Formats: sequence, C-alpha cells, structure tokens
Amino acid sequence: MADKTVTITDNATGKQAEMPVRSGTHGPDLIDIRTLHSELGYFTYDPGYSTSGSCQSDITFIDGDQGILLYRGYPIEQLAEQSSFLEVARLLIHGDLPTKTELAHFETSITHHTMVNESLRIFFNGFHYNAHPMAMLTGVVGSLSAFYHDTIDINDPDNRLLCAYRIIAKMPTIAAAAFKHMVGEPFVHPLNRLSYTGNLLNMLFARPSEDFEINPVAERALDQLLILHADHEQNASTSTVRLAGSTGANPFAAISSGCAALWGPAHGGANEAVLNMLSEIGTVDQVPKYIEKAKDKNDPFRLMGFGHRVYKNYDPRATIIRKTCHEVLDELGVGNDPQLELAMRLEEIALADDYFVERKLYPNVDFYSGIIYRALGIPKEFFTVLFAIGRTPGWIAQWMEMLSDPEQRIGRPRQLYTGPARRDYVPLHRRR
Ligand code: CMC
Repeated sequence: MADKTVTITDNATGKQAEMPVRSGTHGPDLIDIRTLHSELGYFTYDPGYSTSGSCQSDITFIDGDQGILLYRGYPIEQLAEQSSFLEVARLLIHGDLPTKTELAHFETSITHHTMVNESLRIFFNGFHYNAHPMAMLTGVVGSLSAFYHDTIDINDPDNRLLCAYRIIAKMPTIAAAAFKHMVGEPFVHPLNRLSYTGNLLNMLFARPSEDFEINPVAERALDQLLILHADHEQNASTSTVRLAGSTGANPFAAISSGCAALWGPAHGGANEAVLNMLSEIGTVDQVPKYIEKAKDKNDPFRLMGFGHRVYKNYDPRATIIRKTCHEVLDELGVGNDPQLELAMRLEEIALADDYFVERKLYPNVDFYSGIIYRALGIPKEFFTVLFAIGRTPGWIAQWMEMLSDPEQRIGRPRQLYTGPARRDYVPLHRRR
C-alpha cells in the first residue's frame, strides 16, 4: 500500500475500502480508485471529468488557480519569449531542451517530411469551394492513414517517432492546401529553406503571379501563437487523441479525431467564434447590450473568448499574447480596424464588470489569437486550423507517451444508466 491512503466508507453498509494516493511533481494528489468497484461495488460519477485523472503524464503541468503552464517543467512565459515552435515541439516529444546539434537534426528531419503525396493533394478537389477548412483538415489528416498504415508498427518507438515527425511536418502543408482551396488559388509547395512558420506563411500567402515577402513581425507572432497552443495537458482534443489511440488506431486517424474535437466552439473553435461574436455585436455602442445578454441566464449568448475550464485566475497564455496582440496591431498599422477596436473595447468593459470579475472570467488565449489572425489577414474560418497546427506536437507527444505507458489500457468510461428498466419486447400487432 502507498505511503498515503484515503479510506472510503459506504455509509449504507459500513464497509470500508482503503485507496492508495498517488503524488506527482506538482499539483493535487490523486486517489487511485481502480479497486473501488471490486471492493465496494461502486463506480465514480464525474461528467466532464473535472476531477478525474485519466493517465499519468510527464509532459505538461497546469495550475489553473495560479495561472501556471509548464511544458516539461519550463514556464510558458520563458518558452514564448526565448524559444521557437520547432524547439518546443522537440521538447514536448523528447522531454528535454535540445543541444544545438540535436535541434539542427530535428529541424532537418521535419523539413524532409514536409511534402505530401500528390494523390493526397488531389483529395482537396473533392471538396466544395466553401467547405470549412477544419472539415478538410480533419478529413485529409485522417486520410494520411491510408498512405501510412501497413508500414507503421505503433509498438516500435522508432516508428512512433517517425509518425511524430511526419505529422508535425505535414500539418502546415495540408492546412495551407485547405486554405488555398478555400480561396481558390493554386497550391504552394513547401520551401525547405524557410523556417517552419515562414514556410507556413509562404504556403498561405504566396501566389505564382507576384513576389511574397515574409513579414518578420507576422512570422514571430505566429510562431509564438503556435508555442502557446503546443500542449495543454488532458484537454478535450488531447483526451480524444488518447482515447482513439488507446484502441491501437492508426496515429493519423487518432490525430484527425483530435482535429474534430478541437473544432468545437467551446474548445479550439472559440477563436472563430470570437470573430463571429464581434460581427454579431457590430458596433461599440452595442457592447453594453451584449454584456447584459452574456449575464442573462435565460439567454444562450456567452462572451466567446472569455472564461476557461482550468484557468480560474488568469490564462498565462492570454497574458503573453495580449502583449503580442497590441504589438502586432501597432506594427501592421491595423489598429483602426473597427472590429479590432470593438474587441479592445469589449475586453475593457468585461474586465471591469462585476459579473466577469466575480466569476473570474478573463479573456482566454483564443480571444487574442483571433484578433491577431485577423490582423494578419487570415479568414476566421481558418483560425482553428492554425490552433490545430500548434497543438499537433502536444497531441503526438501524448499519443507516444500513452503507448509507452505500461499502465495504458483501452479508454472506456462508465455511466449511470437512467433509461427504462428491463422490459419485454411487445410484438407490433399488440402495441397500442
Ligand atoms: N460568458 C458568460 N458567462 C460565462 C462564460 C462566458 N464566456 N463562461 C462562463 N460563464 C459563467 C457561467 O454561466 C457560470 O455562471 P454561474 O456560476 O452563474 O452559473 C460560470 O461562469 C462558470 O462557468 P462554467 O460553464 O461552469 O465554466 P466551465 O469551466 O464549464 O466552462 C468554458 C469553461 C471555456 C467552456 C466557458 O467559459 C465558455 O463557454 N467560454 C466561451 C468559449 C471559449 O472561449 N472557449 C475557449 C476556451 S480556451 C481554448 C482552449 O483551451 O480550448
């Protein structure tokens, strides 16, 4: 038995069960309830898993009350300020900051996997011009499994690493192809002499008819956003990747399921929802009306980009990106865009409103990321795709960790059944 235990008493029978307590490096201890059912006959009830641990992980730590986010122990503020997205991706996957040689090797490995099979690119022709890019991304990423299936042995760590390199390298290429399909322009091939983020911008905005120059402010802001999104421990999309992956599914299919989960407006779709909300609000003078709607429990309207399941003090990513957001608006000279002005006014009013202050509802990372993406000239439908590119190293690192965990089992939650009790089938002619 562990050093620390918790005894659970069934008040109906007086029967007791002693459960071991597991401690991590940081954060609250967890009661290991795996024997609860065999000892007391109970399952636990925790919709939304807000107090249940589904795994042990070495990758990311969040303290929502303190506003702390660590990747492999390193504070997000330091990484956002000093690192690059590819270095962070390597950190998440390999566990430590690389040496110069290791980083160069990683960058070369990613660079050499950026191309996609030409047959995969043809898939885009099947989509309508107005298909949502997240639908295209989810479908095409899942289709990568058709190209890499029999050749992948997920039980071999080297094969898992190869999958990680492939997916991190190909996400921008697939995403940019979805973008070009959406805007009706020819696909741009990856250019391996560019940085990861520079290459992404080039594939998004370059056109055969004119020169394209990468704006360093845009490149740095986008790289920083990718860093901020790179992992967030057991969030909805990561848990989805783990759950799908726990069955032994193809890793590209598992990542595609993560894309699907990310798309929802309560998760990665919030950045697009922020812009939709700004369009709905329309003008600055309408802000007070919408603040009242957000506070009204009978009105389904919520302030998108505000609040977080885990961060109940402030979102450390939002603090970093808020600064970058203001820098980008100044640098790109788009500070007088009425919608961006509206966003800044909304931020100001909500931050001073008692309802939001009392419930600790602060702007989250998606509030500012949406504004930056708009300032960079990216259509709102594409925002969540950029989030998905950023989250990919986290998804794949968590997938790799899960498969190497000896305690890993197929994910299979329980339920409280509240439907009809057992009843007999009534033949059609006897039903009334
Ligand atoms: N606007 C108005 N009221 C809100 C909002 C909001 N955005 N968010 C929470 N509340 C209220 C909610 O009504 C409740 O009030 P009361 O205690 O009076 O019933 C209280 O605040 C607590 O809310 P909750 O629904 O229990 O919080 P949750 O942890 O279940 O939900 C959330 C978290 C992110 C889903 C929610 O805050 C939300 O819907 N926010 C808008 C969508 C959004 O921005 N999502 C992106 C999250 S960040 C990206 C990511 O990491 O995926």
